Amino acid sequence: MRIDRLLANSGYGSRSEVRALIRAGRVALAGSIIRDPGTDIPDSERALLQIDGQPALIRRYYYLMIDKPSGVITALDDPTHRTIAEFIPPAYQHAGLSPVGRLDRDTTGLLILTNEGVLNHRLTSPKHGVEKVYDVVFTGPPLDPVKDPTDFAAGIKLADGFCCQPAKLQIIASHHAQLTITEGKFHQVKRMFAAGEREVTALRRLSVGPLQLDPSLGSGGVRELSEAEITALYETVSLERPH
Ligand code: URA
Repeated sequence: MRIDRLLANSGYGSRSEVRALIRAGRVALAGSIIRDPGTDIPDSERALLQIDGQPALIRRYYYLMIDKPSGVITALDDPTHRTIAEFIPPAYQHAGLSPVGRLDRDTTGLLILTNEGVLNHRLTSPKHGVEKVYDVVFTGPPLDPVKDPTDFAAGIKLADGFCCQPAKLQIIASHHAQLTITEGKFHQVKRMFAAGEREVTALRRLSVGPLQLDPSLGSGGVRELSEAEITALYETVSLERPH
């Protein structure tokens, strides 16, 4: 990978900032100063990079969780709406992070961001059946403690005829439940409840596979995943973690 991209992805600044760093002669490979920002650094030589004479901390992959607030869209750039980009701390802004799946503008809760595309794909692909738990508040007919969990377990049929995979409905109150699904179709939870003439008024994602939303984050809070959390995500989709 080009040295400027490698350093920007590792949190050393924007592309232009790291180019300035390189042109200033502060970056060396195996003791030799690199001055061309386009210099290719083979994977095998990354460990030999130094900045200001110190070993450079080169990282390829990042994993963050955000407690997405309402009113923010799951995109990094939009001409009219607030986006999740405003919650990404500057150190990660040039790392090429993408959201893992999408939450609607009015949905809150757990959103994972990573620049590791294979993990991202597996966590969202219905083939891997990763469970996502949503807290759902709605209006309309109250939940029936026997019929509704049975209907969700059998697979809800949406208005367009699509039959959902079996889902687990845990009733908390007449108009409040936790729903576990393994798919991520557009507006899926809202449409599953709409199939029972119910309208979702508050939707919050609590977990994705083994990863729980950190309740200490608060709305708009963000943090890196711990090593244990990253390992658990890879294990849940039977993937070896890349170095
Ligand atoms: N299902 C929905 O309806 N909306 C979301 O944001 C996520 C799941």
